Amino acid sequence: MDPVEEIKSRIDIVDLLREYMPLQQAGANYRARCPFHQEKTPSFMVSQPKQIWYCFGGCNDGGDIFKFVMKQEGVDFAESLRILAQRAGVQLQHQDPNVSSRKTRILDVLDHAAHAYAASLKKSPRAELARRYTQERGIGELIDDFLLGYSPSDGDVMAQYLLSKKFALQDIIDAGLAVKRERGYGSYDRFRGRLMIPIHDLYGHVVGFGGRILEEKEGSGSKYLNSPQTLAYDKSHIVFGLDRAKQEIRKQGFCILVEGYMDFFAVYQSGMQNVVASSGTALTADQVRIIKRFTTTFLFAFDADAAGGNATVRGIEIALSEGIRVKVIQLPREANGMPLYKDPDECIRKDPQAWRRAVQDAKGFLDFHFERVIVPCSRSRDPYEKQKAVRAFFSVLRIVPERITKDHWIKIVAHTLDISESVLWEEIGSRQDDIAQRAKEQKQPSGVSTPNREEAILSLLVADPTLVDSIRLIIDPEMFSNEVYRSVCAALYKEGSVHHLNGVDRLTMYAEYAYSTLDEQERKRTLSLLAVQMREQALKSRIQELRALMESAERSGDKEAVDKYAQEFSNLVTTGYTIKE
Ligand code: GTP
Ligand code: MN
Repeated sequence: MDPVEEIKSRIDIVDLLREYMPLQQAGANYRARCPFHQEKTPSFMVSQPKQIWYCFGGCNDGGDIFKFVMKQEGVDFAESLRILAQRAGVQLQHQDPNVSSRKTRILDVLDHAAHAYAASLKKSPRAELARRYTQERGIGELIDDFLLGYSPSDGDVMAQYLLSKKFALQDIIDAGLAVKRERGYGSYDRFRGRLMIPIHDLYGHVVGFGGRILEEKEGSGSKYLNSPQTLAYDKSHIVFGLDRAKQEIRKQGFCILVEGYMDFFAVYQSGMQNVVASSGTALTADQVRIIKRFTTTFLFAFDADAAGGNATVRGIEIALSEGIRVKVIQLPREANGMPLYKDPDECIRKDPQAWRRAVQDAKGFLDFHFERVIVPCSRSRDPYEKQKAVRAFFSVLRIVPERITKDHWIKIVAHTLDISESVLWEEIGSRQDDIAQRAKEQKQPSGVSTPNREEAILSLLVADPTLVDSIRLIIDPEMFSNEVYRSVCAALYKEGSVHHLNGVDRLTMYAEYAYSTLDEQERKRTLSLLAVQMREQALKSRIQELRALMESAERSGDKEAVDKYAQEFSNLVTTGYTIKE
């Protein structure tokens, strides 16, 4: 059997989706709040008999279990196949060149290495110091969960081990685990004598490592050493911890971003598992977009000394420009403003309650920025001071794509500094922004898309074929705008029902979604209203079309065609708007 079919036969869509969200039975189907966009009323439908899902809310998208996994996990089809094959216990034949690619070999090497590092941390007599270190830092309990490990300090132990497992030296080097000696033979291990923190991709594969020294003393090298960029590890795409955090991020509706691995572990252990780490570098736009699949609200937790740290600010700016709602978690300070704790890790270890409060009180970045740069200037009578403050504030506000947010803040700034709004709009460069913004909005039709009238009509008919006769005289199948709808309508008129046509499943689910609460009378009324509107629309467009056809026939001197179109035209105009008897 085809693996796709075999997997489908073994995994029930309702069972699978239940693991991601609560499903409610609704007639023959199930319904839920869509996991892919925020909504209050459920518009996500699942059909068990058809084994498909569809979101009629913001997404207007749907498909089978593979499509769901692709969207949910942010993976391509091949990866969704792998994930579901594993779940279904279906063995995939690896002839696909993509599957047995170099990347897969590298992932294999990394996986073996991670387990070997982990075994060494647990068992090796020489890892005593590392074990003590994990205890001291309070992450002992996370060792199994995060597959923490220890890299032996001698020259090429890991490479030798992996070679003994029949991996090729080149693959070990390509995985970023060994470095070729410049002179002489062989290689040495990149990571030596470090606490090993595996870095996972979204679906849990080990793609690299961060290695921390155990003692901060002369000659122990930089505090952290990370895997280099490899085929498996694309630094601008991987977000540390997201594979673990993604479900919880969706559930909580926000994501906490910290800078360090240790901060990540501390936050995670404090019970907030919707946390990821940026690992010291500025967040990239790709990373923001990946996290955005799970939430559009980010809470940044600064290190105390980094309230204006470049990497964090840059990350915040990128998030803002992607339309993220950015908030800032402020660690507690002494009365004189001195930081009490240097980072979230220290705060959580010493005063977990204070951390909890700081998260609860997280403030919008613009509020935060406003207080820092505008408020101190609020009583100033010095235009130069005001100008400086406005510039500083606008350098951030300008990045935000939403005009409503801009408008909101410009009003407040105008009021606080006593400057006219129009001057501020000029200052922020409103006009260009507006045009760019409008262009963008036009390209991306706004979130809520109502399925069009044609779909609504057909859904009602598919759900209740007894209604067919009430519109037979109003709507001609040819009036539908595409072939699928035309054939659905024709089939309904001819056979009184449809079963096997493409697109019908979606229509049935839509009817369940939109019209299940209406009684028969209401459905009938809705249908005839829609039908009359559709007829008018169809006739209007045909009339316009005929005008154009007549003109062009006249130009080319085709008298016969002109007569034909003119005849149809006058028929339509004189009788068209009245419903056929
Ligand atoms: P601890 O000192 O163990 O508490 O580390 P931390 O997790 O609090 O990290 P810190 O705030 O010092 O730095 C934030 C992140 O930047 C770290 O988690 C690393 O990912 C990265 N980083 C810090 N120092 C280095 C370094 O020397 N080299 C590299 N490559 N990355 C570093
Ligand atoms: Mn730290």
